Amino acid sequence: MNRLWRKKSIHLLMNEADDSEKGLKRTLTATALIALGIGAIIGAGLFVRTAAAAANNAGPAVALGFVVAGIGCALAGLCYAEFASMIPIAGSAYTYSYATMGELVAWIIGWDLILEYALGAATVSIAWSEYLNKLLGYFNLQVPYAWSHSPFEKIVDPITHITSQGIMNVPALVIVFLLSLLLVRGMRESALVNNLIVITKVAIVLLFITLGWHFMNPLNHTPFIPEASIYTDSQGVDHNFGGIMGILGAAGVVFFAFIGFDAVSTAAQEAKNPKKDMPIGILGSLAFCTILYILFAYVLTGVAHYTDFRGEGKEASVAFAIQKYMLGYGWLAKLVTVAILAGFSSVILVMLMGQSRVFYSMSKDGLVPQVFSEVHPKYRTPYKSNYLFFVFVGLFASFVPGDIVGDMTSIGTLFAFILVCAGVWIMRIKHPELPRGFKTPLVPLVPILGIIVCGAMIYGLGAANWIRLGVWMAIGFIFYFTYSINKSKLNK
Ligand code: ALA
Repeated sequence: MNRLWRKKSIHLLMNEADDSEKGLKRTLTATALIALGIGAIIGAGLFVRTAAAAANNAGPAVALGFVVAGIGCALAGLCYAEFASMIPIAGSAYTYSYATMGELVAWIIGWDLILEYALGAATVSIAWSEYLNKLLGYFNLQVPYAWSHSPFEKIVDPITHITSQGIMNVPALVIVFLLSLLLVRGMRESALVNNLIVITKVAIVLLFITLGWHFMNPLNHTPFIPEASIYTDSQGVDHNFGGIMGILGAAGVVFFAFIGFDAVSTAAQEAKNPKKDMPIGILGSLAFCTILYILFAYVLTGVAHYTDFRGEGKEASVAFAIQKYMLGYGWLAKLVTVAILAGFSSVILVMLMGQSRVFYSMSKDGLVPQVFSEVHPKYRTPYKSNYLFFVFVGLFASFVPGDIVGDMTSIGTLFAFILVCAGVWIMRIKHPELPRGFKTPLVPLVPILGIIVCGAMIYGLGAANWIRLGVWMAIGFIFYFTYSINKSKLNK
């Protein structure tokens, strides 16, 4: 029984950090950390999931969904920041929890982070595929429906009534493959490229908000919160639409758009002044994005009616809304499409890298097989891990619809956040003496509220997603109790 709660000592962690730190320079300022955060945050959640949440869950009230999701993230972010400042080394919630809450909790979080990073990467690659088709469309080209959709998707042409059936999402698979290759070669996105992409993404969002503002039709926002009902989508899936449940469901869906702010915490080792700058980096990027998101959602559902996003505008929705309703701004639709393709690529890269980092740590600790930490003789990258995750992520990207992987990403991450909130509170009680560079305010109120708001979003995501999370956790437990518990380095 004790084995479940054994902890990795903080001294051991610090020593490992010192070793691995030799190559890393402390160069990142608070501003650079905020840029890093925004680079990882703005992506498919905003440009694809917003429209999906409006269509399936909340209509124009998706903007309120962003408010709820933003509050949940801020609360969890405050807790994350305390963890990150307590143990300012590379890693993530997994590493922090191993030192503070013991092996089993660390395992659960690490296992959840696969949902966050690997399925998150799959979700964004599916969105990438949608916008690629949009781009090709400008040149009258197209990847056929069958080869750009999963086998669980079909579409009926409203005029000819011919049904197209998906077989495999090839573009999504290709982008995951190319970016995995980059990772194997040890290519990291340089700060310069990241900054360029961040500036482009933010510029596009601001342009859309300011230009789109004049094209909003007040009728599209009426009623702002649609009456509660059940909406059955074109694939036959039922959604709670409208009312409070609609808003909570939308919050769970667009929560995806915030994922990545925790990526800032993985750069602790490269921060100049981690204790002060990590919280600023995490909370600063979060606050900035929340404001942009709420405005963006408000304008998007004002420019187009949410029912547009159930049909023609289901895919590449932002470009669709501009083309259809913002006459004279065709250039903006094209610009958005190109910027989005670049922006999505950087998000996928960060997620794939985050995944291999977490598994690298878990493998060093003996909790997952050694192949995940074997480094390439020449490139010094965990290349086997990169290839294995290419296969895993690629399977989801090719054969599962974006809605499903997106919601699984959200629910897995929400669950990990709840554990982080609980963890900060528990640590305050059990180890009040440990130094903390940043202290979460109002403990236990903030962690409790964080748990409640994240829990409400999990509730809003609905039974099908709870079952998927349950199955995923069950597989994780089987793995832990048959393999990891016996192979853990802490056995020695
Ligand atoms: N937040 C990231 C996105 O929306 C994952 O693509």
